[in-house]
Amino acid sequence: MKQIVAVLGHPIGHTMSPVMHNAAFEALGIDAEYLAFDVLPERLGEAIEGARALGFVGLNITIPHKVAALQYCEPDPLAASIGAVNTLVFGDEVKGYNTDATGAMEALRRAKVRVGGKEVLVMGAGGAARAIAHALVHEGARVVVANRTKQRAVELCEALGRATGTGFDELPALVQSCDVLINATSVGMRGESLVRGEWLHEGQVVFDIVYNPPETPLLKAARSAGAKTIDGVAMLVHQGAKAFELWFGVEPPVDVMERAVRRALAEG
Ligand SMILES: NC(=O)c1ccc[n+]([C@@H]2O[C@H](COP(=O)([O-])OP(=O)(O)OC[C@H]3O[C@@H](n4cnc5c(N)ncnc54)[C@H](OP(=O)(O)O)[C@@H]3O)[C@@H](O)[C@H]2O)c1
Repeated sequence: MKQIVAVLGHPIGHTMSPVMHNAAFEALGIDAEYLAFDVLPERLGEAIEGARALGFVGLNITIPHKVAALQYCEPDPLAASIGAVNTLVFGDEVKGYNTDATGAMEALRRAKVRVGGKEVLVMGAGGAARAIAHALVHEGARVVVANRTKQRAVELCEALGRATGTGFDELPALVQSCDVLINATSVGMRGESLVRGEWLHEGQVVFDIVYNPPETPLLKAARSAGAKTIDGVAMLVHQGAKAFELWFGVEPPVDVMERAVRRALAEG
């Protein structure tokens, strides 16, 4: 019988996860299908229980359900300390994981970027920023979190213990002085950027987790300034690969997944 995995989110229209995982199933000859469901926040618990009752292998959980989903699973220590889950695995119990942190760190590793001891500026204090800042602190980076709503950055950094939270007032100076800049806000999808090109320079690494378009205005400016760039597709693929491993116990072909996502994004 075909095995089923799905992503629950609201809205869900633009997810690339089905394209990515279904390409991996085909490449590995696994009889499975990855679906996407638009689930209202007040129906999340029922949706998770329903998927489990129907025998799904597991789920991905995306915006805006990553924090709420914690109450419907047994989170592993990483997900519990991040305070959000994006992957559920069904068995005797519902296990919860956060593969966003792993995905972001793997994207940096593959680009041969070491963050230990480096000054890393994370823009954003939402779910993704939370996971990334947590992983960066764990890897020994000197982390600064800047967010439009300063209070959220301050609270996140208080919870992390070893990071500095601030608003956008000093963004130009913070961008200029950091070794690695990570955009973990949703800004960049519609041709906009929080960062001016003249704030960036050679020798920096700029990582934008927004993956549609793959080259955001921030990455374009970074490339022009001579900085090293990492796009959001890399993180998407590696967080997906980690989830795949948790569901099926095998490493998926990340190159196949990446090609499928890039092709779908290029086709619009
Ligand atoms: N590549 C990947 O694998 C991957 C994985 C996860 C997420 N993402 C992408 O990352 C982005 C953030 O996701 P999330 O789950 O963290 O979302 P979220 O929890 O809703 O957080 C959104 C963040 O963006 C900030 N923001 C939104 N609009 C802004 C604006 N106009 N100006 C300045 N800041 C703004 C918010 O600031 P306030 O706190 O002030 O509202 C907040 O920090 C999304 O685009 C998502 O698609 C990519």
